[in-house]
Amino acid sequence: MERTYVMVKPDGVARGLIGKIITRFEDKGLNLVSAKLLQMDEALAKAHYQEHVGKPFFDDLVSFITSGPIFAMVLEGDEAISVARKMMGETNPLEATPGTIRADFAVHMNRNVIHGSDSEASAKREIGLFFKPEELTSAKRADWNWI
Ligand code: RTP
Ligand code: MG
Repeated sequence: MERTYVMVKPDGVARGLIGKIITRFEDKGLNLVSAKLLQMDEALAKAHYQEHVGKPFFDDLVSFITSGPIFAMVLEGDEAISVARKMMGETNPLEATPGTIRADFAVHMNRNVIHGSDSEASAKREIGLFFKPEELTSAKRADWNWI
C-alpha cells in the first residue's frame, strides 16, 4: 500500500476542474486520505520544487504555482504513486496520451493542471510539506475489498 501527494494546480482550480479530477481518482479506486484548498507561498513553492532550483523555468514555475489556490490531496492504494502519474500523463500535455488528465484538460507544459509525486521519497517529503500527521485520516472506502 502506498500514499502519494497529488495537487490540482492554480490553473485547474481557477478553471473549476477540482471535481472532475477527484472523480477520476475516485473512479479508479484510490482512497482519499486527506484534502484541502490552500495558497502556496514562495517558501513552500521553493521547498516543493527544490529539485528544479536553478533551472531556466524555475522562477516562472514558482510564480505560477503561487498565483492562486491549489487543491492538495493525499491518495492511497496499491502502487498509488505510479497509478496517479499514469493517470496524469506526460508533463507536456501535447505528448500525453488521450484519456490522461493532462491530455484531456491541458495544452501547455507550464499550465498542466496537476502535480503528482514521482517516487516514494518525494511522496513522503511532499505529504509532510503539505499535511500535518493529524490531518491524515485512516478512513477507508466502503468498497475497499473490491478494488
Ligand atoms: P510536476 O512536478 O509539476 O508534477 O510535473 P512533472 O513531474 O511532470 O515535471 P517536472 O519535471 O517535475 O517539472 C515540474 C514542472 O515544471 C514545468 N517544466 N517546464 N522545460 C521546461 O520548460 C519545463 N520543464 C518542466 C512544468 O510545468 C512541470 O509540470
Ligand atoms: Mg515533478
